[in-house]
Amino acid sequence: MLDYKKLSATIIFIFGGSGDLNYRKLTPALYNLFLDDALPENFSIVGVSRTEYNDTAYKKRLQDGVNQFSRNKPDEKSWNSFAKHISYIQMDINEKSRYEQLEKIVNDFKAKHKEDPSIVFYMAVAPQLVPVIIKPLSELSFCHEIRTTRIVIEKPFGHDLESAKQMNHTLTRYFAEEQIYRIDHYLGKETVQNILALRFANSLFEPIWNRNYIDHVQISATETVGVEGRGGYYENAGALRDMIQNHILQLLCMVAMEPPVSFDANEIRNKKVDVLKAVRRIDETKVQDVAARGQYRDGWMKGQEVVGYRQEKDVTPESTTETFAAAKFFIDNWRWEGVPFYVRTGKRMHVKSTEITIQFKSAPNYAFPQEAADTWKPNRLSIGISPEMDVCLRFQAKRPGQAMILNPVDMVFNYKDSYKGEEPEAYETLLYDVMAGDATLFMRADQVEAAWEIVMPILDVWAKRKPVSFPNYSPGSWGPEDSEALIAKDGHNWISHFS
Ligand code: BG6
Repeated sequence: MLDYKKLSATIIFIFGGSGDLNYRKLTPALYNLFLDDALPENFSIVGVSRTEYNDTAYKKRLQDGVNQFSRNKPDEKSWNSFAKHISYIQMDINEKSRYEQLEKIVNDFKAKHKEDPSIVFYMAVAPQLVPVIIKPLSELSFCHEIRTTRIVIEKPFGHDLESAKQMNHTLTRYFAEEQIYRIDHYLGKETVQNILALRFANSLFEPIWNRNYIDHVQISATETVGVEGRGGYYENAGALRDMIQNHILQLLCMVAMEPPVSFDANEIRNKKVDVLKAVRRIDETKVQDVAARGQYRDGWMKGQEVVGYRQEKDVTPESTTETFAAAKFFIDNWRWEGVPFYVRTGKRMHVKSTEITIQFKSAPNYAFPQEAADTWKPNRLSIGISPEMDVCLRFQAKRPGQAMILNPVDMVFNYKDSYKGEEPEAYETLLYDVMAGDATLFMRADQVEAAWEIVMPILDVWAKRKPVSFPNYSPGSWGPEDSEALIAKDGHNWISHFS
Protein backbone atom coordinates (compact mmCIF):
# COMPACT_ATOMS: atom_id res chain seq x y z
CA MET A 1 0.00 0.00 0.00
CA LEU A 2 1.29 3.45 -0.89
CA ASP A 3 1.93 6.06 1.68
CA TYR A 4 -0.42 9.06 1.60
CA LYS A 5 -1.23 11.82 4.04
CA LYS A 6 -4.90 11.84 4.94
CA LEU A 7 -6.89 14.61 3.27
CA SER A 8 -9.72 16.73 4.59
CA ALA A 9 -13.30 16.32 3.33
CA THR A 10 -13.68 16.77 -0.44
CA ILE A 11 -16.38 16.84 -3.10
CA ILE A 12 -15.30 16.18 -6.68
CA PHE A 13 -17.68 17.22 -9.44
CA ILE A 14 -16.73 15.58 -12.72
CA PHE A 15 -18.17 17.45 -15.69
CA GLY A 16 -18.22 14.96 -18.54
CA GLY A 17 -18.99 12.30 -15.93
CA SER A 18 -20.44 9.92 -18.52
CA GLY A 19 -17.47 10.32 -20.86
CA ASP A 20 -14.45 8.29 -21.77
CA LEU A 21 -11.85 10.05 -19.63
CA ASN A 22 -13.83 9.41 -16.47
CA TYR A 23 -14.54 5.84 -17.52
CA ARG A 24 -10.94 4.91 -18.37
CA LYS A 25 -8.85 7.12 -16.14
CA LEU A 26 -10.51 9.21 -13.43
CA THR A 27 -12.74 6.69 -11.68
CA PRO A 28 -10.11 3.91 -11.85
CA ALA A 29 -7.61 6.36 -10.33
CA LEU A 30 -10.01 7.43 -7.57
CA TYR A 31 -10.80 3.80 -6.85
CA ASN A 32 -7.10 2.99 -6.42
CA LEU A 33 -6.68 5.99 -4.14
CA PHE A 34 -9.58 4.65 -2.13
CA LEU A 35 -7.91 1.23 -1.83
CA ASP A 36 -4.71 2.94 -0.72
CA ASP A 37 -6.67 4.75 1.98
CA ALA A 38 -5.71 8.07 0.39
CA LEU A 39 -9.21 9.52 0.01
CA PRO A 40 -10.62 11.58 2.86
CA GLU A 41 -12.93 9.99 5.36
CA ASN A 42 -15.76 12.11 4.02
CA PHE A 43 -15.82 12.44 0.28
CA SER A 44 -18.29 12.55 -2.57
CA ILE A 45 -17.79 12.05 -6.29
CA VAL A 46 -20.53 13.57 -8.39
CA GLY A 47 -20.69 12.84 -12.11
CA VAL A 48 -22.31 15.63 -14.13
CA SER A 49 -23.40 15.06 -17.72
CA ARG A 50 -26.19 15.36 -20.20
CA THR A 51 -26.75 11.63 -20.68
CA GLU A 52 -29.60 10.11 -18.72
CA TYR A 53 -28.59 7.72 -15.93
CA ASN A 54 -29.91 6.85 -12.54
CA ASP A 55 -27.31 6.43 -9.79
CA THR A 56 -27.37 2.63 -10.06
CA ALA A 57 -26.85 2.51 -13.82
CA TYR A 58 -24.15 5.15 -13.57
CA LYS A 59 -22.23 3.22 -10.93
CA LYS A 60 -22.58 0.03 -12.97
CA ARG A 61 -21.00 1.72 -15.97
CA LEU A 62 -18.13 3.07 -13.89
CA GLN A 63 -17.55 -0.34 -12.34
CA ASP A 64 -17.21 -1.71 -15.83
CA GLY A 65 -14.51 0.90 -16.55
CA VAL A 66 -12.70 0.03 -13.34
CA ASN A 67 -12.83 -3.66 -14.24
CA GLN A 68 -11.11 -2.91 -17.51
CA PHE A 69 -8.69 -0.14 -16.70
CA SER A 70 -7.80 -0.12 -13.02
CA ARG A 71 -4.40 -1.46 -11.95
CA ASN A 72 -6.23 -3.14 -9.03
CA LYS A 73 -9.30 -5.08 -10.10
CA PRO A 74 -12.32 -4.43 -7.90
CA ASP A 75 -13.70 -7.05 -5.57
CA GLU A 76 -17.41 -6.62 -4.92
CA LYS A 77 -17.00 -5.57 -1.29
CA SER A 78 -14.46 -2.80 -1.78
CA TRP A 79 -16.21 -1.57 -4.92
CA ASN A 80 -19.50 -1.29 -3.02
CA SER A 81 -17.96 0.67 -0.19
CA PHE A 82 -16.28 2.99 -2.72
CA ALA A 83 -19.42 3.32 -4.87
CA LYS A 84 -21.44 4.54 -1.87
CA HIS A 85 -19.67 7.87 -2.37
CA ILE A 86 -20.64 8.21 -6.06
CA SER A 87 -23.70 9.96 -7.41
CA TYR A 88 -24.82 11.40 -10.71
CA ILE A 89 -26.69 14.45 -11.84
CA GLN A 90 -28.00 14.88 -15.31
CA MET A 91 -27.85 18.47 -16.48
CA ASP A 92 -27.59 20.65 -19.52
CA ILE A 93 -24.58 22.87 -18.93
CA ASN A 94 -26.25 25.70 -20.83
CA GLU A 95 -29.08 26.00 -18.30
CA LYS A 96 -27.81 28.41 -15.70
CA SER A 97 -30.48 27.60 -13.14
CA ARG A 98 -29.30 23.99 -12.95
CA TYR A 99 -26.04 25.04 -11.32
CA GLU A 100 -27.93 25.72 -8.10
CA GLN A 101 -28.10 21.96 -7.66
CA LEU A 102 -24.38 21.97 -7.02
CA GLU A 103 -24.79 24.49 -4.25
CA LYS A 104 -27.41 22.25 -2.69
CA ILE A 105 -25.12 19.21 -2.87
CA VAL A 106 -22.40 21.15 -1.08
CA ASN A 107 -24.77 22.39 1.60
CA ASP A 108 -26.20 18.92 2.20
CA PHE A 109 -22.66 17.53 2.51
CA LYS A 110 -21.77 20.21 5.07
CA ALA A 111 -24.91 19.50 7.07
CA LYS A 112 -24.33 15.76 7.03
CA HIS A 113 -20.61 15.71 7.85
CA LYS A 114 -20.34 18.91 9.87
CA GLU A 115 -17.25 19.79 7.87
CA ASP A 116 -16.50 22.35 5.15
CA PRO A 117 -15.28 20.35 2.15
CA SER A 118 -12.67 21.26 -0.43
CA ILE A 119 -14.37 21.35 -3.80
CA VAL A 120 -12.86 20.17 -7.06
CA PHE A 121 -14.47 20.79 -10.44
CA TYR A 122 -12.96 18.47 -12.99
CA MET A 123 -13.52 19.57 -16.60
CA ALA A 124 -13.47 16.23 -18.44
CA VAL A 125 -15.19 17.90 -21.39
CA ALA A 126 -14.23 19.25 -24.81
CA PRO A 127 -12.23 22.50 -24.43
CA GLN A 128 -14.89 24.65 -26.09
CA LEU A 129 -17.32 23.72 -23.30
CA VAL A 130 -15.05 24.92 -20.49
CA PRO A 131 -15.95 28.63 -20.81
CA VAL A 132 -19.66 27.70 -20.92
CA ILE A 133 -19.33 25.88 -17.59
CA ILE A 134 -16.98 28.10 -15.64
CA LYS A 135 -18.98 31.29 -15.90
CA PRO A 136 -22.07 30.01 -14.04
CA LEU A 137 -19.82 28.05 -11.69
CA SER A 138 -17.95 31.19 -10.72
CA GLU A 139 -21.23 32.69 -9.57
CA LEU A 140 -21.70 30.03 -6.89
CA SER A 141 -20.75 31.41 -3.50
CA PHE A 142 -18.21 28.71 -2.56
CA CYS A 143 -16.19 29.29 -5.75
CA HIS A 144 -14.73 32.43 -4.22
CA GLU A 145 -12.94 30.35 -1.60
CA ILE A 146 -9.57 30.43 -3.31
CA ARG A 147 -7.93 28.02 -0.89
CA THR A 148 -10.53 25.30 -1.04
CA THR A 149 -12.19 25.46 -4.46
CA ARG A 150 -10.21 24.20 -7.46
CA ILE A 151 -10.86 23.69 -11.11
CA VAL A 152 -9.05 21.08 -13.18
CA ILE A 153 -8.53 21.62 -16.90
CA GLU A 154 -7.48 18.93 -19.35
CA LYS A 155 -5.39 19.51 -22.46
CA PRO A 156 -5.46 20.83 -25.15
CA PHE A 157 -4.76 24.27 -23.70
CA GLY A 158 -5.57 26.14 -26.86
CA HIS A 159 -4.79 25.44 -30.49
CA ASP A 160 -1.98 27.97 -30.78
CA LEU A 161 -0.41 30.78 -28.78
CA GLU A 162 -3.27 33.20 -29.37
CA SER A 163 -6.04 30.78 -28.39
CA ALA A 164 -4.04 29.64 -25.33
CA LYS A 165 -3.75 33.26 -24.20
CA GLN A 166 -7.46 33.71 -24.79
CA MET A 167 -8.23 30.59 -22.77
CA ASN A 168 -6.01 31.69 -19.91
CA HIS A 169 -7.65 35.09 -20.00
CA THR A 170 -11.13 33.54 -19.78
CA LEU A 171 -10.13 31.20 -16.95
CA THR A 172 -8.49 33.90 -14.88
CA ARG A 173 -11.50 36.17 -15.33
CA TYR A 174 -13.54 33.79 -13.22
CA PHE A 175 -11.00 31.92 -11.09
CA ALA A 176 -7.70 32.87 -9.48
CA GLU A 177 -4.58 31.26 -10.98
CA GLU A 178 -4.03 29.34 -7.69
CA GLN A 179 -7.39 27.65 -8.24
CA ILE A 180 -6.59 26.45 -11.77
CA TYR A 181 -4.95 23.04 -12.18
CA ARG A 182 -3.95 22.40 -15.81
CA ILE A 183 -3.18 18.73 -16.24
CA ASP A 184 -0.31 17.32 -18.24
CA HIS A 185 -0.56 13.65 -17.34
CA TYR A 186 3.14 13.07 -18.09
CA LEU A 187 4.03 15.08 -15.00
CA GLY A 188 2.12 12.59 -12.86
CA LYS A 189 4.21 9.66 -14.04
CA GLU A 190 6.49 8.29 -11.33
CA THR A 191 9.43 8.01 -13.68
CA VAL A 192 9.10 11.65 -14.71
CA GLN A 193 9.12 12.81 -11.10
CA ASN A 194 12.09 10.57 -10.51
CA ILE A 195 14.12 12.79 -12.85
CA LEU A 196 14.16 15.39 -10.07
CA ALA A 197 15.34 12.80 -7.54
CA LEU A 198 17.98 11.47 -9.91
CA ARG A 199 19.35 14.91 -10.66
CA PHE A 200 19.03 16.70 -7.35
CA ALA A 201 19.25 13.98 -4.67
CA ASN A 202 22.53 12.55 -5.96
CA SER A 203 25.86 14.30 -5.98
CA LEU A 204 27.01 12.18 -8.88
CA PHE A 205 25.12 13.60 -11.82
CA GLU A 206 24.64 17.32 -11.28
CA PRO A 207 28.32 18.32 -11.61
CA ILE A 208 28.48 16.76 -15.08
CA TRP A 209 24.96 17.74 -16.15
CA ASN A 210 26.02 20.46 -18.56
CA ARG A 211 27.58 21.36 -21.90
CA ASN A 212 31.09 20.40 -20.72
CA TYR A 213 30.16 16.72 -20.46
CA ILE A 214 26.92 16.21 -22.36
CA ASP A 215 27.07 15.88 -26.11
CA HIS A 216 23.35 15.88 -26.79
CA VAL A 217 19.99 14.86 -25.33
CA GLN A 218 17.22 12.85 -26.97
CA ILE A 219 13.59 12.66 -25.90
CA SER A 220 11.50 10.14 -27.73
CA ALA A 221 7.84 9.21 -27.28
CA THR A 222 6.81 6.63 -29.83
CA GLU A 223 3.50 4.79 -29.95
CA THR A 224 2.27 1.74 -31.81
CA VAL A 225 -1.37 2.80 -31.78
CA GLY A 226 -2.92 4.90 -34.52
CA VAL A 227 -5.35 7.68 -33.71
CA GLU A 228 -7.75 5.21 -32.04
CA GLY A 229 -11.03 6.70 -33.23
CA ARG A 230 -9.95 10.22 -32.24
CA GLY A 231 -9.55 11.36 -35.86
CA GLY A 232 -11.89 14.31 -35.31
CA TYR A 233 -9.68 15.74 -32.58
CA TYR A 234 -6.39 14.70 -34.16
CA GLU A 235 -7.10 16.28 -37.54
CA ASN A 236 -6.98 19.69 -35.84
CA ALA A 237 -4.06 18.79 -33.62
CA GLY A 238 -1.30 16.68 -35.17
CA ALA A 239 1.73 15.24 -33.40
CA LEU A 240 3.45 18.55 -32.67
CA ARG A 241 0.44 19.97 -30.82
CA ASP A 242 -0.67 16.67 -29.32
CA MET A 243 2.66 15.59 -27.79
CA ILE A 244 5.55 18.01 -28.28
CA GLN A 245 3.99 21.32 -27.19
CA ASN A 246 3.04 19.77 -23.87
CA HIS A 247 4.40 16.38 -22.76
CA ILE A 248 7.76 16.44 -24.49
CA LEU A 249 8.57 20.05 -23.65
CA GLN A 250 7.72 19.27 -20.03
CA LEU A 251 10.18 16.38 -20.09
CA LEU A 252 12.74 18.72 -21.61
CA CYS A 253 12.16 21.13 -18.71
CA MET A 254 12.75 18.37 -16.16
CA VAL A 255 16.05 17.47 -17.81
CA ALA A 256 17.24 21.02 -18.35
CA MET A 257 16.00 23.03 -15.36
CA GLU A 258 18.31 24.54 -12.77
CA PRO A 259 18.22 23.10 -9.23
CA PRO A 260 15.23 24.51 -7.35
CA VAL A 261 15.81 26.08 -3.95
CA SER A 262 12.69 24.32 -2.62
CA PHE A 263 9.92 22.04 -3.80
CA ASP A 264 7.40 24.82 -3.55
CA ALA A 265 5.02 24.68 -6.55
CA ASN A 266 5.92 28.11 -7.82
CA GLU A 267 9.63 27.60 -7.41
CA ILE A 268 9.58 24.44 -9.55
CA ARG A 269 7.37 26.09 -12.12
CA ASN A 270 9.59 29.19 -12.24
CA LYS A 271 12.60 27.04 -12.97
CA LYS A 272 10.75 25.29 -15.78
CA VAL A 273 9.57 28.54 -17.31
CA ASP A 274 13.21 29.72 -17.30
CA VAL A 275 14.07 26.74 -19.50
CA LEU A 276 11.22 27.37 -21.92
CA LYS A 277 12.19 31.01 -22.19
CA ALA A 278 15.79 30.08 -22.96
CA VAL A 279 14.86 27.72 -25.81
CA ARG A 280 16.19 29.37 -28.94
CA ARG A 281 13.46 30.80 -31.14
CA ILE A 282 13.38 29.01 -34.47
CA ASP A 283 13.66 31.26 -37.48
CA GLU A 284 10.92 30.42 -39.98
CA THR A 285 13.49 30.13 -42.78
CA LYS A 286 15.28 27.42 -40.77
CA VAL A 287 12.30 25.24 -39.91
CA GLN A 288 13.09 22.63 -42.52
CA ASP A 289 16.59 22.21 -41.10
CA VAL A 290 15.43 21.63 -37.55
CA ALA A 291 12.07 19.87 -37.85
CA ALA A 292 10.65 16.86 -39.68
CA ARG A 293 7.12 15.59 -40.05
CA GLY A 294 5.46 12.43 -41.25
CA GLN A 295 2.18 10.62 -41.68
CA TYR A 296 1.66 6.86 -41.55
CA ARG A 297 0.43 4.91 -44.52
CA ASP A 298 -1.47 1.62 -44.49
CA GLY A 299 0.45 -1.58 -43.97
CA TRP A 300 1.12 -4.30 -41.45
CA MET A 301 1.95 -4.26 -37.77
CA LYS A 302 2.85 -7.44 -35.96
CA GLY A 303 0.97 -9.56 -38.51
CA GLN A 304 -2.11 -7.34 -38.54
CA GLU A 305 -3.19 -5.17 -41.42
CA VAL A 306 -3.80 -1.55 -40.40
CA VAL A 307 -5.25 1.37 -42.30
CA GLY A 308 -3.31 4.49 -43.15
CA TYR A 309 -4.02 7.73 -41.30
CA ARG A 310 -6.01 9.08 -44.24
CA GLN A 311 -8.39 6.12 -44.01
CA GLU A 312 -9.02 6.50 -40.27
CA LYS A 313 -12.50 7.48 -39.11
CA ASP A 314 -13.19 11.26 -39.25
CA VAL A 315 -10.00 11.96 -41.20
CA THR A 316 -10.13 13.60 -44.63
CA PRO A 317 -8.68 11.45 -47.45
CA GLU A 318 -6.19 14.21 -48.42
CA SER A 319 -5.28 15.09 -44.84
CA THR A 320 -1.92 16.82 -44.35
CA THR A 321 -1.98 16.40 -40.55
CA GLU A 322 1.28 15.00 -39.22
CA THR A 323 1.22 11.83 -37.14
CA PHE A 324 4.97 12.06 -36.57
CA ALA A 325 7.05 15.07 -35.60
CA ALA A 326 10.71 15.53 -34.75
CA ALA A 327 12.65 18.66 -33.90
CA LYS A 328 15.98 19.93 -32.70
CA PHE A 329 16.07 22.59 -30.01
CA PHE A 330 18.87 24.55 -28.37
CA ILE A 331 18.73 26.11 -24.94
CA ASP A 332 20.63 29.36 -24.84
CA ASN A 333 21.99 29.52 -21.32
CA TRP A 334 25.30 28.78 -19.58
CA ARG A 335 24.48 25.18 -18.81
CA TRP A 336 23.28 24.12 -22.24
CA GLU A 337 24.91 26.38 -24.81
CA GLY A 338 25.58 24.31 -27.95
CA VAL A 339 23.95 21.07 -26.72
CA PRO A 340 21.23 19.89 -29.12
CA PHE A 341 18.01 18.45 -27.70
CA TYR A 342 16.46 16.13 -30.27
CA VAL A 343 12.82 15.23 -29.72
CA ARG A 344 10.51 12.96 -31.67
CA THR A 345 7.06 11.45 -31.37
CA GLY A 346 4.84 9.43 -33.64
CA LYS A 347 1.89 7.09 -33.94
CA ARG A 348 2.02 3.60 -35.49
CA MET A 349 5.72 3.28 -34.86
CA HIS A 350 7.90 0.30 -34.13
CA VAL A 351 7.42 0.23 -30.33
CA LYS A 352 5.52 1.96 -27.58
CA SER A 353 8.23 3.71 -25.63
CA THR A 354 8.92 7.01 -23.95
CA GLU A 355 12.55 7.50 -23.07
CA ILE A 356 15.15 10.14 -22.48
CA THR A 357 18.79 9.67 -23.42
CA ILE A 358 21.61 11.77 -22.06
CA GLN A 359 24.54 11.15 -24.36
CA PHE A 360 27.84 12.11 -22.76
CA LYS A 361 30.91 13.17 -24.69
CA SER A 362 33.51 10.59 -25.50
CA ALA A 363 36.40 10.09 -23.08
CA PRO A 364 39.83 10.70 -24.63
CA ASN A 365 41.11 7.39 -25.89
CA TYR A 366 44.88 7.90 -25.92
CA ALA A 367 46.16 5.04 -23.82
CA PHE A 368 44.17 2.11 -25.12
CA PRO A 369 45.25 -0.03 -28.05
CA GLN A 370 43.67 0.34 -31.48
CA GLU A 371 41.36 -2.69 -31.08
CA ALA A 372 39.83 -1.07 -28.00
CA ALA A 373 38.75 1.84 -30.15
CA ASP A 374 36.56 -0.43 -32.24
CA THR A 375 34.13 -1.01 -29.40
CA TRP A 376 34.63 2.36 -27.74
CA LYS A 377 31.29 3.87 -26.76
CA PRO A 378 30.78 7.11 -24.87
CA ASN A 379 28.82 7.02 -21.60
CA ARG A 380 25.10 7.27 -21.82
CA LEU A 381 22.34 7.63 -19.27
CA SER A 382 18.96 6.32 -20.45
CA ILE A 383 15.80 7.09 -18.53
CA GLY A 384 12.90 4.82 -19.43
CA ILE A 385 9.62 6.61 -18.72
CA SER A 386 7.26 3.93 -20.06
CA PRO A 387 6.63 1.08 -20.51
CA GLU A 388 10.18 0.39 -19.32
CA MET A 389 10.59 2.25 -16.05
CA ASP A 390 14.27 2.24 -15.53
CA VAL A 391 17.48 4.19 -15.40
CA CYS A 392 20.42 2.69 -17.19
CA LEU A 393 24.00 3.95 -17.12
CA ARG A 394 26.27 2.68 -19.84
CA PHE A 395 30.01 2.62 -19.27
CA GLN A 396 33.08 0.84 -20.60
CA ALA A 397 34.41 -2.33 -19.02
CA LYS A 398 37.33 -4.54 -19.85
CA ARG A 399 36.36 -7.84 -21.37
CA PRO A 400 37.89 -10.75 -19.39
CA GLY A 401 41.05 -12.14 -20.95
CA GLN A 402 44.60 -11.26 -21.87
CA ALA A 403 43.89 -8.51 -24.36
CA MET A 404 42.71 -5.04 -23.45
CA ILE A 405 39.37 -5.25 -25.21
CA LEU A 406 36.63 -2.97 -24.07
CA ASN A 407 32.91 -3.51 -23.94
CA PRO A 408 30.04 -1.18 -23.14
CA VAL A 409 28.06 -2.55 -20.17
CA ASP A 410 24.93 -1.35 -18.37
CA MET A 411 24.18 -0.60 -14.76
CA VAL A 412 20.40 -0.71 -14.39
CA PHE A 413 17.87 0.42 -11.83
CA ASN A 414 14.42 -0.94 -12.59
CA TYR A 415 11.29 0.27 -10.81
CA LYS A 416 9.48 -3.04 -11.10
CA ASP A 417 12.31 -4.99 -9.48
CA SER A 418 12.92 -2.49 -6.72
CA TYR A 419 9.35 -1.49 -5.85
CA LYS A 420 7.29 -4.56 -6.83
CA GLY A 421 4.75 -2.85 -9.05
CA GLU A 422 3.52 -0.31 -6.53
CA GLU A 423 3.72 2.70 -8.81
CA PRO A 424 0.51 4.70 -8.86
CA GLU A 425 -0.93 5.66 -12.23
CA ALA A 426 -0.30 9.27 -13.29
CA TYR A 427 -3.94 10.21 -12.68
CA GLU A 428 -3.81 8.87 -9.12
CA THR A 429 -0.91 11.15 -8.29
CA LEU A 430 -2.48 14.13 -10.02
CA LEU A 431 -5.94 13.70 -8.51
CA TYR A 432 -4.45 13.30 -5.06
CA ASP A 433 -2.40 16.47 -5.54
CA VAL A 434 -5.46 18.44 -6.65
CA MET A 435 -7.30 17.32 -3.53
CA ALA A 436 -4.27 18.21 -1.40
CA GLY A 437 -4.00 21.61 -3.09
CA ASP A 438 -0.46 20.97 -4.35
CA ALA A 439 0.02 22.54 -7.79
CA THR A 440 3.66 21.53 -8.34
CA LEU A 441 2.86 19.03 -11.09
CA PHE A 442 0.40 21.28 -12.90
CA MET A 443 0.97 23.79 -15.64
CA ARG A 444 0.83 27.47 -14.87
CA ALA A 445 -0.54 29.86 -17.50
CA ASP A 446 2.89 31.28 -18.37
CA GLN A 447 4.34 27.76 -18.82
CA VAL A 448 1.65 26.89 -21.33
CA GLU A 449 2.18 30.09 -23.26
CA ALA A 450 5.98 29.80 -23.26
CA ALA A 451 5.66 26.26 -24.68
CA TRP A 452 3.37 27.50 -27.45
CA GLU A 453 5.88 30.22 -28.33
CA ILE A 454 8.50 27.55 -28.99
CA VAL A 455 6.46 25.50 -31.43
CA MET A 456 4.65 28.33 -33.23
CA PRO A 457 7.27 28.93 -35.97
CA ILE A 458 7.17 25.22 -36.89
CA LEU A 459 3.38 25.16 -36.87
CA ASP A 460 3.18 28.31 -38.98
CA VAL A 461 5.62 27.07 -41.60
CA TRP A 462 4.01 23.64 -41.75
CA ALA A 463 0.59 25.21 -42.19
CA LYS A 464 1.89 27.37 -45.04
CA ARG A 465 3.91 24.66 -46.80
CA LYS A 466 1.76 21.61 -47.24
CA PRO A 467 3.70 18.34 -47.26
CA VAL A 468 3.92 16.77 -50.69
CA SER A 469 5.22 13.37 -49.66
CA PHE A 470 2.48 12.29 -47.21
CA PRO A 471 1.96 9.47 -46.33
CA ASN A 472 5.69 8.95 -45.88
CA TYR A 473 6.25 6.19 -43.33
CA SER A 474 5.07 2.65 -42.87
CA PRO A 475 3.34 1.35 -39.78
CA GLY A 476 5.78 -0.45 -37.51
CA SER A 477 8.74 1.62 -38.71
CA TRP A 478 10.80 4.31 -36.95
CA GLY A 479 9.10 7.14 -38.83
CA PRO A 480 9.99 9.02 -42.01
CA GLU A 481 13.46 9.28 -43.54
CA ASP A 482 13.50 13.02 -42.86
CA SER A 483 13.62 12.24 -39.16
CA GLU A 484 16.74 10.09 -39.62
CA ALA A 485 18.28 12.82 -41.77
CA LEU A 486 17.54 15.49 -39.15
CA ILE A 487 19.78 13.80 -36.62
CA ALA A 488 22.22 12.07 -39.01
CA LYS A 489 23.45 15.36 -40.41
CA ASP A 490 24.83 16.14 -36.95
CA GLY A 491 26.58 12.77 -36.88
CA HIS A 492 24.13 11.08 -34.49
CA ASN A 493 21.34 8.55 -34.72
CA TRP A 494 18.14 8.03 -32.76
CA ILE A 495 18.73 5.83 -29.75
CA SER A 496 16.19 3.40 -28.38
CA HIS A 497 16.07 0.69 -25.73
CA PHE A 498 14.68 -1.43 -28.53
CA SER A 499 16.84 -0.62 -31.55
C1 BG6 B 1 -2.16 12.07 -24.92
C2 BG6 B 1 -2.28 12.25 -26.42
O1 BG6 B 1 -2.00 13.32 -24.30
O2 BG6 B 1 -1.03 11.25 -24.64
C3 BG6 B 1 -2.43 10.90 -27.09
O3 BG6 B 1 -3.41 13.06 -26.71
C4 BG6 B 1 -1.30 9.99 -26.70
O4 BG6 B 1 -2.49 11.05 -28.50
C5 BG6 B 1 -1.13 9.94 -25.18
O5 BG6 B 1 -1.61 8.69 -27.19
C6 BG6 B 1 0.13 9.19 -24.82
O6 BG6 B 1 0.18 9.02 -23.43
P1 BG6 B 1 1.01 7.84 -22.76
O7 BG6 B 1 0.88 8.07 -21.30
O8 BG6 B 1 0.39 6.57 -23.24
O9 BG6 B 1 2.43 7.99 -23.28
